[in-house]
Amino acid sequence: MGQQQTFSGLLPLFSTVSPVLAAMVVLTPSPAMKQIPAINLSEPGSEALLVRACEDLGFFKVTEHDIPMELIAKLEEEALKFFALSPAEKELAGRANPFGYGSKNIGGHGDVGWVEYLLMPITSEPLSMAFLMHPSASSFRSALDEYALAVRKLACRVLELMAQGLGMEQRDAFRKLVADEESDSMLRLNHYPPCPMLRELNGFVTGFGEHTDPQIISVLRSNDTAGLEISLRDGSWVSVLPDRESFFINVGDSLQVLTNGRFRSLRHRVLANGWKSRVSMIYFGGPPLGERLAPLPEVMAEGEQSKYREFMWCDYKSCAFKTLLGDNRLDLFHQTSEASEKMKKDDEVAVNEQIVEM
Ligand SMILES: *[C@@H]1O[C@H](CO)[C@@H](O)[C@H](O)[C@H]1NC(C)=O
Ligand SMILES: *[C@@H]1O[C@H](CO)[C@@H](O)[C@H](O)[C@H]1NC(C)=O
Repeated sequence: MGQQQTFSGLLPLFSTVSPVLAAMVVLTPSPAMKQIPAINLSEPGSEALLVRACEDLGFFKVTEHDIPMELIAKLEEEALKFFALSPAEKELAGRANPFGYGSKNIGGHGDVGWVEYLLMPITSEPLSMAFLMHPSASSFRSALDEYALAVRKLACRVLELMAQGLGMEQRDAFRKLVADEESDSMLRLNHYPPCPMLRELNGFVTGFGEHTDPQIISVLRSNDTAGLEISLRDGSWVSVLPDRESFFINVGDSLQVLTNGRFRSLRHRVLANGWKSRVSMIYFGGPPLGERLAPLPEVMAEGEQSKYREFMWCDYKSCAFKTLLGDNRLDLFHQTSEASEKMKKDDEVAVNEQIVEM
C-alpha cells in the first residue's frame, strides 16, 4: 500500500522523463495464486476438471500437452532474435494494424503498455507475411509454422474435452470453429523488456493492460519470468507463477457466449518489471469471420433463457477494434443491457434506412 503511494508520488517524475511511461499506471504486483488448476491431459477424467476450471476461473494450465519442448524453445529463440533487431529492422514486419510489429501502442485508441509485439494471422496455409518470405527469415518462419500447427491442435483437443465434459452429444461443437479452414485465429509474440527506470524504485508498470480475449480460446506459453495476473470472480487480482512445462489456457468472450455464461471469459493483465524481460507466445483461436455465435441450446438447461443475442464474429471483432482494451464488450451483446438495446435499435434503424433507400 505504502509502496503504491510512493509510486503515485513519482508519476510527475515519469512524466518529465517519459510521457509514455507515465501513461502506464505503476502498480505493485498482486499476491501469487498457488492453486491454479493444473490439468493432466492424459489422465482420465480431465474433461470434468476442465469444465470446473472454466466455470470457476476461466483459466487453467495443462501438462502432458504433447508439444515437444524443442519446438517451443526454437520459437522462443527465434522470437528473441527478432526482438533483438533494430527498430527499423523490426518495422519491416509492417506496423501492427492489426497485424505486424507494434511497440508500446496497443490498438488504435491510445492504449499503451511496456511491451513490443508481433501479431500474425494464422490460417490453414503457412504464414505468408512479406517479411517472413525473406530468405533470412526462413528459420523464424518454419518455427512459427510448426508451433502454430501444434498449438492449434492442442486448442482443438482441449475444446473437444470441454464439450465432452459438458456432456454434449456434438463433441466437435467448439472444436470445429477453430479447426475450420476459414477460422480467424492469430499468434502473438510479446516481449516485455526490462524497464530500467523502475529498477531503483523496485516498481512495476503495465505491460499489457487488463482485458478479456474476444476469441474462443487462448493458449499461452511464457518463459520463466512472472508478470501475468488474473482477475478472480470477486474482482481481486492474483499473479500467476510462471511454469515452463505447461501451457496456460483461458476462456475467451466467444466461448462465454456459446456456453451462455457458464464458462467465464478471463480478465487478465501483464506487469513488466525493471530487471527481467519476459517473452510470451499466445495463440488465439477464433471462429470463421462469418460465423454466427449465440448460446448453444445443448449447453443450456431446460427453460434457460439465452443471455446473449446472436452476432456474427466479424461484428464482434470490429467492435473489439473500436473499443478500448479494457472495455467490457460483451455487455453490448447482453440481451438485457441498455447498450445492447441501443445497438439493436441502431441496427433496426440501419435496416429501415436500407429499406427506404431501396
Ligand atoms: C499424467 O498422468 C499420467 C497417467 O496417469 C501419468 O503417467 C503422468 O505422470 C502424469 N503427468 C504429470 C505431469 O503429472
Ligand atoms: C526469459 O526471456 C528473457 C529474454 O528476453 C531472458 O532474459 C530470461 O532469462 C528468460 N528466462 C528463461 C528462464 O528462459
